[in-house]
Amino acid sequence: MDRKSTKDKPLSEKTTEDFAHYFQTTYTPPDIKKARKRGRDKIEVHYDFEISDNLRQIGEGKKFLIRTYGCQMNEHDTEVMAGILTEMGYEPTERAEDSDIILLNTCAIRENAENKVFGEIGHLKSLKVEKPDLIIGVCGCMSQQESVVNRILKKHQQVDLIFGTHNIHRLPNLIQEAMFSKAQVVEVWSKEGDIIENLPKVRHGKIKAWVNIMYGCDKFCTYCIVPMTRGKERSRRPEDIIQEVRHLAAQGYQEVTLLGQNVNAYGKDFEDIDYKFADLMNDMHKIDIPRVRFTTSHPRDFDDHLIEVLAQGGNLLDHIHLPVQSGSSYILRKMNRKYTRESYLELVKKIKKAIPNVTLTTDIIVGFPNETDEQFEETMSLMEEVGFEAAYTFIYSPREGTPAAVQKDDIPMDVKKERLQRLNELVNKQSAASMKSYEGKTVKVLVEGESKKDDTVLAGYTEKNKVVNFKGPKSIIGKIVEVKITEAKTWSLNGELVKKAIEVN
Ligand code: 5AD
Ligand code: SF4
Repeated sequence: MDRKSTKDKPLSEKTTEDFAHYFQTTYTPPDIKKARKRGRDKIEVHYDFEISDNLRQIGEGKKFLIRTYGCQMNEHDTEVMAGILTEMGYEPTERAEDSDIILLNTCAIRENAENKVFGEIGHLKSLKVEKPDLIIGVCGCMSQQESVVNRILKKHQQVDLIFGTHNIHRLPNLIQEAMFSKAQVVEVWSKEGDIIENLPKVRHGKIKAWVNIMYGCDKFCTYCIVPMTRGKERSRRPEDIIQEVRHLAAQGYQEVTLLGQNVNAYGKDFEDIDYKFADLMNDMHKIDIPRVRFTTSHPRDFDDHLIEVLAQGGNLLDHIHLPVQSGSSYILRKMNRKYTRESYLELVKKIKKAIPNVTLTTDIIVGFPNETDEQFEETMSLMEEVGFEAAYTFIYSPREGTPAAVQKDDIPMDVKKERLQRLNELVNKQSAASMKSYEGKTVKVLVEGESKKDDTVLAGYTEKNKVVNFKGPKSIIGKIVEVKITEAKTWSLNGELVKKAIEVN
């Protein structure tokens, strides 16, 4: 593969042909065999993204709407696409009827996420009939799947543009093509692209920010489509991340969340430097920003050095989201998680020893193919043994192209639903107990704004990510304050303002 041929051209001048090495055809289906063999091609980092002059005014007087489904990675991709569209002259709108371009940034993780998107595509049909010049685009993880692309091409002519997760920086050119092409425009690279550093962003708020630290996933959990939709693991250079976080701190941001499908694998792909996630967190600790979170971590790569770094505290918050997926070592092996119940519990023990006040939350899948009652009970007991304060729980959803999807499954859906309900009852019980334990305590709250339900009340988040509602002056929005908790509700806490603004660190 010769990447040099296009290397000297600025990104904005490259054409579809310049990227031909990325796709065998316009798109390929998720293929685990191919994905596993993906090459060790060196990833190039580009700093020269630019929107060419002829595309800069294309959106003047026009409006865009992006609907986002799924995870934080998608939320952040939406901020990038909003940045690109804004530089093209488009203005944001919340109303589909006022839009000139609507993008659906989709999620493929479970079938119901996909169904929602197809429902939305259906709804947009009548709007497209009314406004033929409206551009409807589908992007995100669903567009990386051949079956989805085919279904849209066959049945949903109202969609003008389909582009993949590796093609976001191509948005200006793709919009131009969609404007002038009679046919539906499809650009989905099956192979991950390079890292493009200087993409514009319109961030969702001025208090908290997402910061990507890596892209893709190489873990290949047998149920998961992500390694196919997001490509191989590629880490951003430390200096670029540090600069971005410093810049956010200088702009007054109070909190950053470092994002990756598996942040603990950060840096494993560097060939020239030995710099891992623990080193990055250590550098984050030195930056003058009050709160640093990260998501999502994989238990496998959670090493002692990282625990040691996190134990320093300060702006590294003592809340760790550590997806366990199942409490049964047998099921974990079938999921290719590469740890056991015992080794997970051992890791939890180490973390709790080093960070005694730590809050642990998790993700759990119930009803993995042929999961027995006993194996499910092991998940229930692990939930209690660890004492997770919250958990995202899901019924296993077969994803085409993943190894688990071809397994015969003897467990009926109503059994799976019953298990999910039992698990959720336990999660709610543990969550309620942890909320109750805050009553009478004083906590630090980052004030985000007025409560959605009552504008005389302010709302913010504790270090452990619990919502707190309390009365106070609007001038403290964006600040960290001390609040005494007076009452625990199921999903939030009520309190009274103690101290208007506190020194951090
Ligand atoms: N079915 C159900 N849940 C899934 N997840 C990932 N893939 C699937 C699937 N096929 C869950 C995992 C993961 C979270 C983001 O989504 O728990 O941690
Ligand atoms: Fe999916 Fe597993 Fe990668 Fe998470 S670590 S994105 S569950 S393959």
